[in-house]
Amino acid sequence: MLYDLIDSKLFSLSNKILKLLSPNMARARAARRVASRYDMMREADEDFFSRIYLYHIKKKIKEVFGNRAIHIFDAGCGQGRLSIPLAMDGHKVMGMDFTPEAIKLAKKYEKEKNVEIEFILGDLEKDINKIGSSKFHCVISTEVLYMIKDYKNVINKLTFLLEPGGLIFISLRPRLYYVIQKLINGYISDSHDLLINKKTYINDGFLNCLSKDEIEKIMQTSGFTQIEYKGIGVITGIMGDPQSLFAIPSAFDKKQQALLFEMELYLGDNYPENGRYIFVSGIKK
Ligand SMILES: C[S@@+](CC[C@H](N)C(=O)[O-])C[C@H]1O[C@@H](n2cnc3c(N)ncnc32)[C@H](O)[C@@H]1O
Repeated sequence: MLYDLIDSKLFSLSNKILKLLSPNMARARAARRVASRYDMMREADEDFFSRIYLYHIKKKIKEVFGNRAIHIFDAGCGQGRLSIPLAMDGHKVMGMDFTPEAIKLAKKYEKEKNVEIEFILGDLEKDINKIGSSKFHCVISTEVLYMIKDYKNVINKLTFLLEPGGLIFISLRPRLYYVIQKLINGYISDSHDLLINKKTYINDGFLNCLSKDEIEKIMQTSGFTQIEYKGIGVITGIMGDPQSLFAIPSAFDKKQQALLFEMELYLGDNYPENGRYIFVSGIKK
């Protein structure tokens, strides 16, 4: 306990210094630290949210590609909580993440589930170009781009990976999420800056948030059509999310979680900007 506290204080101090020298390296170091300690395949609450993502992803894949197996790229795949179930459905999946511990666990879970996935260690900002263009029917990136300063550039790179008619799924932080989170924590001026002055970055540029209209423009400029939005976690969240004040999935039993799940799907359709994430899909022209 004491060791953890000292370790986290030392980390935060050293990252503040690194941030002065190289903000991008400090950002990557902070993201890797979280991903190396938080296994999204094992967290009960994350399982609830991955089931929501998979519900939308599978439904849309079926709508666009029917029942055929497709080639999917999972950008910032973490421990593989989406890659693995999609491979279990018969799709050919490649996952990239820049946290070695996450890729190591993803490979372990891949073996346990007896599927074959190409998990590679790589930085979405530097290594996507090496993969080539028009390689995939579908590209997915959940809960990653809000950590990347030049998120527009990464969206362009992801678009390049897709064949025409291909399907993209990305989840981003809705602007409203941080407006409310800052307000709850008493930072009214920050909250006002985000809402009224349309500030995009928080925590000195480490994280970003966008409104649905801003996302729509980016998606259109990147060449997507049939753009759709779903809210992920409108009345449920994990610790730190404003939505956790309503409900935390793991606090409920299976039957209750099934009810919450149904409510989330309804609210996600109707209030996409009110979630922990806004999940966007589109078809490349
Ligand atoms: C919140 S996790 C989401 C993981 C996975 N997409 C999911 O939904 O389970 C964010 C992941 O993004 C990865 N990540 C962040 N920035 C990255 C970058 N520039 N290149 C590759 N991976 C990155 C982190 O290592 C982490 O595994």
